[in-house]
Amino acid sequence: MSSKISLTRYLVEQQRIDGHIPSELRLLLEVVARACKSISQAVNKGALGGVLGTAGSENVQGEVQKKLDIIANEVLIEANEWGGHLAAMASEEMDSIYVVPNRYPKGEYLLLFDPLDGSSNIDVNVSIGTIFSVLKKGNDDPSAVEPVCEHDFLQKGSQQVAAGYCVYGPQTTLVLTVGDGVAMFTLDREQGSFVLTQEHVKIPEDTKEFAINMSNMRHWDEPVKRYIDECLQGKEGPRGKDFNMRWIASMVADVHRILTRGGVFMYPWDKREPNKPGKLRLMYEANPMSWLVEQAGGAATNGRQRILDLQPSQLHERVSVILGSKNEVERVTSYHTKV
Ligand code: AHG
Ligand code: MN
Ligand code: MN
Repeated sequence: MSSKISLTRYLVEQQRIDGHIPSELRLLLEVVARACKSISQAVNKGALGGVLGTAGSENVQGEVQKKLDIIANEVLIEANEWGGHLAAMASEEMDSIYVVPNRYPKGEYLLLFDPLDGSSNIDVNVSIGTIFSVLKKGNDDPSAVEPVCEHDFLQKGSQQVAAGYCVYGPQTTLVLTVGDGVAMFTLDREQGSFVLTQEHVKIPEDTKEFAINMSNMRHWDEPVKRYIDECLQGKEGPRGKDFNMRWIASMVADVHRILTRGGVFMYPWDKREPNKPGKLRLMYEANPMSWLVEQAGGAATNGRQRILDLQPSQLHERVSVILGSKNEVERVTSYHTKV
């Protein structure tokens, strides 16, 4: 008899432990996982499925959309709109929120996603992924009839009720938190189901590995320059140890490595566009990843504040991100705050 634990069983057991996953949230997470399976299939087909290349359009942030950005967005919407568990969805690839159409029953959850993270890696066959975050619509009164609006989404990351990502790499791996630690599930393609492959994920507090796009070095702020410069000095420098560097250019893949073996990931504010707080999106990328990292014992800040404490003022807000092994994140943050 197999002792494998499927995602379904894991979620049912989470629901039983202290009832902190209501059945609607369990359904929602199963549906998101099903959508990720279908995106994984499209990714696997690559050129054979005609899914590579650009779509010839731009998203609200002025970025050129790839065919897979749009396919993944549609898969997530179609999978989630009819189940009755959601009030609305928001995506990096949509200008405004997507309210569940009136022909379907509505629930109290809000789903946010970066349907395809690491778009620049699609055509070169390098790991990409889907990142998601779940919030609850503010008004707990089920008889309230006010329609859902963008303001309902503008909640701090600390309000998330579930967050995760699915990385489409050599394996397809779904990583999830519902506030009770981080669990990883690997897609068993023969069975067509996600199987629990790691629980209680823990990020080592110290690390000798950093991830940052070094080509932007000349644009960084002094605290980031100082931190990286000290790492680069290795054994002979103030850190007294050699550091390794990795940069995949897919946040999902970089964060997955950090959850697996530690490290620090940074996409800091830089001088290229001084009025933009950063490149990464608070609601679709930074918040879900920061909660996962914290749930695994790591830390996440924007250099000055805990990311999960930031009050969003708009849906597509961007933010500076420093996350991963706790002691390193605290060090970079202290270089910003103790001047
Ligand atoms: P997306 O593909 O969803 O736009 O996100 C890409 C992000 C992130 O995944 C990655 O860490 C970063 O952009 C890479 O940026 P650079 O190409 O500037 O290094
Ligand atoms: Mn992204
Ligand atoms: Mn994206």
